[in-house]
Amino acid sequence: MTILVTGGAGFIGSGFVRLLIAESADRVVNLDKLTYAGNLESLASVDANPRYRFVRGDICDHALVDALVAEERPDAIVHFAAESHVDRSILSPEPVVETNVRGTFVLLEAARRRGVARFLHVSTDEVYGSLAAPLEATEEFPLNPSSPYSASKAGSDLLARAYFTTYRLPVVITRASNNYGPYQFPEKLIPLMIANALDNQPLPVYGDGQQVRDWLYVEDHCRGILAALRKGRDGEIYNIGGNRSLPNLNVVRKVLAATGKPESLIQFVTDRPGHDRRYALSSEKLMRETGWRPAMDFETGLASTIDWYRANSAWVARVRSGEYRAYYERNYGGRAVVSYEL
Ligand code: NAD
Ligand code: DAU
Repeated sequence: MTILVTGGAGFIGSGFVRLLIAESADRVVNLDKLTYAGNLESLASVDANPRYRFVRGDICDHALVDALVAEERPDAIVHFAAESHVDRSILSPEPVVETNVRGTFVLLEAARRRGVARFLHVSTDEVYGSLAAPLEATEEFPLNPSSPYSASKAGSDLLARAYFTTYRLPVVITRASNNYGPYQFPEKLIPLMIANALDNQPLPVYGDGQQVRDWLYVEDHCRGILAALRKGRDGEIYNIGGNRSLPNLNVVRKVLAATGKPESLIQFVTDRPGHDRRYALSSEKLMRETGWRPAMDFETGLASTIDWYRANSAWVARVRSGEYRAYYERNYGGRAVVSYEL
């Protein structure tokens, strides 16, 4: 098969590209704009492989996308490319709506016109919104997004479904929980806390830190997507969760314990506007239909992630310079320090 991967220079996309090159005979074409989050260093291990091709381009560019799909005639498109960070979507929603909604539309149109046999849309558990315990979202739950990011992902998710319902484009949608692991951009909770802890910098916890997320190791997510790509049914949605729900404060404390740093580094700061309190989902359908299971337990995955960030300090230093510093100041500079009992 030839698989067109979008956003393959990002955190999860690069993991998926490395997995395909290592464990399948597929040809992989990676279309990525290389925004601040795209990093070709994450693909150094596959760069010279004859089954791999990189194309720099924007998924919103109709002419480029259509020409690439016509030229490569991919058997499948696996669509990761997105503006993926909630805080950035609150600070600047426009590029988020443009890439996540319009970019998905451009890809769906090209797939429809060129008769692509499978379109896997990578969505998120954030589309379900905040759920009271002990609820776990199944694929039939209503969509109730809160942030510009999650609303844009819900929009693209619904558009992908509409292309199945209306045009019978063979769409499969996956909705995953919070990923962590090597190569993640240090704007997200776990890599940010690891990087700050290793640097003896404050660890900014939003609000009271009791918001709950379900943690999924990135390789487990990639294998779940591959299972849905190969064995999923047209028009179906598959949740992919890590089956490990934790309040943020517990995660931060685990990072401090594993890095040997003191809890005095924790700094409670003004909460994220519209912050969803709890995400939780059931992956029963994907497990039942494909046999996929999350394999990594959280403590082992966290330890190996911390090892990776320690061993790749040059990668971390490069991505934390320049644009990252400006973003960090914009997102955290104006936040008041709040006091909560530890
Ligand atoms: P990321 O921010 O690390 O990477 C996004 C990639 O998309 C980058 O390489 C970037 O250059 C590329 N990109 C952005 N805009 C583009 C455009 N207009 N054209 C072409 N390429 C563009 O993101 P990630 O964390 O790897 O997430 C990948 C996908 O998985 C996203 O769709 C996200 O919504 C979804 N997802 C993420 C998580 C998570 O925890 N990170 C969980 C569930 C779902
Ligand atoms: O649930 C899946 C989603 O997970 C994906 O769709 C998104 O692409 C991904 O970014 C992630 O969204 P979150 O908003 O849950 O992830 P983030 O790492 O930004 O935050 C995780 C939790 O930690 C959230 O409750 C906010 C909190 N947080 C985050 C940061 C960056 C803090 O308390 N402090 C911080 O500095």
